[in-house]
Amino acid sequence: METLEVIRKRCSLKTHLSGRKIEPEKINTILEAARLAASARNMQPWRFIIVQGKKAVEVLAHAFAESNLMIKQAPAIIIICARPGDDVMHDGKEYYLFDIGMAVANMLLAATDLGLVTHPMAAFNEGEVKRILHIPDDVRVVIATPLAYPLEASYDEAAKERLSQRIRKDLKEIAYFDRWSELEPA
Ligand SMILES: Cc1cc2nc3c(=O)[nH]c(=O)nc-3n(C[C@H](O)[C@H](O)[C@H](O)COP(=O)(O)O)c2cc1C
Repeated sequence: METLEVIRKRCSLKTHLSGRKIEPEKINTILEAARLAASARNMQPWRFIIVQGKKAVEVLAHAFAESNLMIKQAPAIIIICARPGDDVMHDGKEYYLFDIGMAVANMLLAATDLGLVTHPMAAFNEGEVKRILHIPDDVRVVIATPLAYPLEASYDEAAKERLSQRIRKDLKEIAYFDRWSELEPA
């Protein structure tokens, strides 16, 4: 797919996870896309833990909120974490979260390009995830995503309904030219 097409087609598809194994080269491509993201002062604070295998995925899935429990159907879960101290703090702003966002965006787009489905999730018990994966105390677990082939025959088929219901703010609500020009609430 072309870049803009991938951006348009990426969506969160936790109810479309098939258990089909993902080829290691595809996982590698996705991690490589994340690795190439920009970061403040090139600190690259992100760390990725790839959990695969039915048993390991199931154990980890129990640390997720009930609304995310279907993650256990995925053949892989990627946990994204960082040490806040490994990145820049500028003017009270913790850039490790921003930098992780950059890497995860690349990751989700790369997966979409490969026809795989993802779904960023923050609703999990961080302490439990850390315990299960032996993550040190000073590391924060920021976000996770299942990685799976779609249940349907193609990514497009899996994403069709969600994309048709996509809700986004209108550009004029969020993009101002030349000066701050927030619209009055209707
Ligand atoms: C930081 C972050 C945390 C999220 N956490 C969850 C979550 O725990 N469970 C869930 O179902 N979706 C979660 N989402 C998915 C969002 O609800 C979803 O991205 C949003 O509704 C837009 O839909 P789209 O991704 O299909 O475009 C999260 C997304 C982000 C970026």
